[in-house]
Amino acid sequence: MATKTLDDLLGEGVSGRTVLVRSDLNVPLDGSTITDDGRVRAALPTIRRLSEGGAKVIVTAHLGRPKGEADPAYSLAPVAARLGELLGAEVSLAGDVTGDSARQTVAALGDGGVALLENVRFDPRETSKDSTERAAFAAELAALTGDGGAFVSDGFGVVHRKQASVYEVAEVLPAYAGGLVLAELEVLSTLTGDPRRPYAVVLGGSKVSDKLAVIEALLPKVDALLVGGGMCFTFLAAQGHSVGGSLLESDMIDTCKRLLAEAGDKLVLPTDVVVADAFAADAATRTVAADAIEDGWLGLDIGPDSVRAFAGTLAGAGTTFWNGPMGVFEMAPFAEGTRAVAQAIADSAAFSVVGGGDSAAAVRLLGLPDDGFSHISTGGGASLEYLEGKELPGVAVLEKGV
Ligand code: 3PG
Repeated sequence: MATKTLDDLLGEGVSGRTVLVRSDLNVPLDGSTITDDGRVRAALPTIRRLSEGGAKVIVTAHLGRPKGEADPAYSLAPVAARLGELLGAEVSLAGDVTGDSARQTVAALGDGGVALLENVRFDPRETSKDSTERAAFAAELAALTGDGGAFVSDGFGVVHRKQASVYEVAEVLPAYAGGLVLAELEVLSTLTGDPRRPYAVVLGGSKVSDKLAVIEALLPKVDALLVGGGMCFTFLAAQGHSVGGSLLESDMIDTCKRLLAEAGDKLVLPTDVVVADAFAADAATRTVAADAIEDGWLGLDIGPDSVRAFAGTLAGAGTTFWNGPMGVFEMAPFAEGTRAVAQAIADSAAFSVVGGGDSAAAVRLLGLPDDGFSHISTGGGASLEYLEGKELPGVAVLEKGV
């Protein structure tokens, strides 16, 4: 069965109906301050369209990884406030997920009103490995919508999770793909389909093991794979270089040797790195050749020669995909590699996609303009799993239909 979409639901008419929307509002917080509201902004259009259509909109989302019980540190309260500001309308926050407070909050909604349920992971059944527990919880979520209820799956960042509010709920309510999920899938499909060439991928982040599956999937498709971030040191070690105190996954060295042999010239490593004598913003730093890192020093960013080489490749690319920072960009002395690579992507005429998570946060924290990129994904793990060719449960369930 073909996936039904938000447009189909709006075409049916939503006025007076209660619609449950799964959004990904998992934003970074500093205490109760949202440091990057990109995911809240990305969730807005679907919520707004439903509200403008006269639906009573119940939004469900998670924040962080609480341990299956209410924990104020993971409350969605800051998110409800931000969502309300951006919508220009009050967003009431239920004090629980499917309990008395949720039912009362939903009962108080007028047509066009928007409410947010408390962190869906406060209920252990959301992420339970037992599908009957997840189904029971999904039934409670669905019951909040009453007669004529519907479900809109719009949390692209969680569609790789087989969790109650993503998967089982779509088996009990008429389910529709939201605008954000559709837009993300359309963009990512161009990366796996027939991308404009040359196709350059920049991968960073700390661990090779986290990116292994995507490297294996992308290598045959790309023209250049530029590797920075903590993971480059395991590749440098695989080439026989000493990496001092840099991040190293010793058990991945053989895998990196194999990838280097398979990739040939396609896989490009930094030729210089910024090293420090401690993992601290005020550490002593130097720039050294990538094959000359001394003991007692650790690499925390790619160096200027590497930036120039990476930027040269990116300037001529037809398509770019970037996931993972080039260094510890949260500390000013180690931010330049990430900033300069992001700038090179933004400056090029390529169709450019930024993977979610740290890379999207880096774009905003380093002050780069969002519109320098063709698309900034809201999904970190979800976009990588898509590119790995894995089935995304939250998308597959929509194809089944109820
Ligand atoms: C993310 O931050 O990538 C999504 O919100 C998914 O979060 P999770 O990895 O905790 O499931």
